[in-house]
Amino acid sequence: MLERLQKIISAAGITSRRASEALILNGQVAVNGVVVTELGSKADPAKDIITVDGKALKINAQRLYILLNKPPGYITALKDSQNRPLVTDLLKDMPERVYPVGRLDYNTEGLLLLTNDGEWANRLMHPSHEIEKEYHVRVRGKVIDQQLKRMADGVELEDGMTAPAVVNLVKSGEQNDWISVAIHEGRNRQVRRMCEAVSLSVVRLKRIRYGSLMLGTLRAGQFRYLTEAEVRQLADIPVVPESEKRTPREPRKKIVRSGGKSSGRRQ
Ligand code: URA
Repeated sequence: MLERLQKIISAAGITSRRASEALILNGQVAVNGVVVTELGSKADPAKDIITVDGKALKINAQRLYILLNKPPGYITALKDSQNRPLVTDLLKDMPERVYPVGRLDYNTEGLLLLTNDGEWANRLMHPSHEIEKEYHVRVRGKVIDQQLKRMADGVELEDGMTAPAVVNLVKSGEQNDWISVAIHEGRNRQVRRMCEAVSLSVVRLKRIRYGSLMLGTLRAGQFRYLTEAEVRQLADIPVVPESEKRTPREPRKKIVRSGGKSSGRRQ
């Protein structure tokens, strides 16, 4: 079946849909040996040989879904001109290359998802999904209620007002307070900029939740694979209970009408 090239490339786990478009425009993609630079171009992943930088796509690569507790001092890009450590350096012996779903700043820590399933990553990052992400922020000194309320109501940033957020005081210490900030948007450095806008100085920033998924007890630098139910639930794909899964060989059940004829529909 013919599909758009950028969709095939992202589904093969090379990179996101948007970055796949850049690969095409840069002339790095070829179909059956012919370089394709037009964005609307289509190919048949079952028949055509599609290459990126001369390497053939693995269409049916095993799908991997990973939750990493990112330590501070790691970068979520796949390469870095300054040679800083990459989050993918923490994932040893992966059978396939994975890439981060969205980004966390170099010094932000906590829950980071990585996958080689471009379609799944696109679903998660699509603004229509509005997945809520929750951060714990250690701020210098004491927080006052008015600062929390302003962040919760929305603050003016250089790229516009922020949407309403859920902001609470979590813990009060001698030198620092911890607050929690839950947002749906995913703007660049958003939590840091929201704090700056109400004169709060961020000492530490940690993502502790992504939708229904909690960071849990993973230590910094450790990762785990998501369960099938977690993968489906996050992308809002209905979870089919084991008991209702039909094996391919199981015959379809027929509805027998009172006249004795089969409707051909499943029960
Ligand atoms: N908000 C930020 O400011 N930084 C991150 O890394 C994530 C959210």
